[in-house]
Amino acid sequence: MISGEFSGKLIGIMNIENQKKIAAEKATESVQSNMVVGLGTGSTVYYALLKIGDMVREGLDIVGIPTSAGTEKIAIAQQIPLATLAMHPTIDLTIDGADEVDKNLNLIKGGGAALVREKIIANASKEILIVVDESKVSRVLGTTFPLPVEIVRFGWEATQTEVNRISGKSTLRLTSAEDGNQHPLITDNGNYILDCHFDGIPDPEEIELRLNNIPGVVENGIFVNRADKIIIGTSSGIRYME
Ligand code: A5P
Repeated sequence: MISGEFSGKLIGIMNIENQKKIAAEKATESVQSNMVVGLGTGSTVYYALLKIGDMVREGLDIVGIPTSAGTEKIAIAQQIPLATLAMHPTIDLTIDGADEVDKNLNLIKGGGAALVREKIIANASKEILIVVDESKVSRVLGTTFPLPVEIVRFGWEATQTEVNRISGKSTLRLTSAEDGNQHPLITDNGNYILDCHFDGIPDPEEIELRLNNIPGVVENGIFVNRADKIIIGTSSGIRYME
């Protein structure tokens, strides 16, 4: 027998999944043959990868550049032809997710630990579509999601001390290993992630620059002035911010 509380939660999860799916599939309508497409990372973009896979099998002629090893694996399984930035330094269109978005189209990214490659791909892209469910929309960045900052492993404690002068506090991201113990998460680039707990980031442009100025910081998850359009899946359909 399913309890009322459990079935309520299940309906909530299914609703969010549907919002992710409709937003991601809407974004794929902008993908056309002969494009170089940046392939983002995360559970929302996953639905776009499935759809693009279907489109490729039906004759769509594109190459994709993945933003993470995880996305590369999914793209290969979906038979999406892949390329590199060395082969195509300019990307026509990137579809990616986000952890938090504000009304000025600024983003927090990196919940999936792919922020460095995502920012490199974003920087090389002519157009960027961000796909989210409605829970990601926030009045002030940094109020609903901790800001991920990728740091090199050498001397990471000293880097964290400097980062904390800006954010207040941060935690080293851990992951469960096969031995059942928790270990620091290692990114695709061989680095650590600090999740920084701000009480809001009203000045994202300034914080993005200040964090990246700390020796040991590789990149942070603030994306300012990069998204062209945010496609939001809601319980009553699609909404846009552009
Ligand atoms: C990956 O590092 C992230 O930037 C993702 O794009 C972001 O975390 C959104 O992921 P979900 O779609 O899984 O919420």
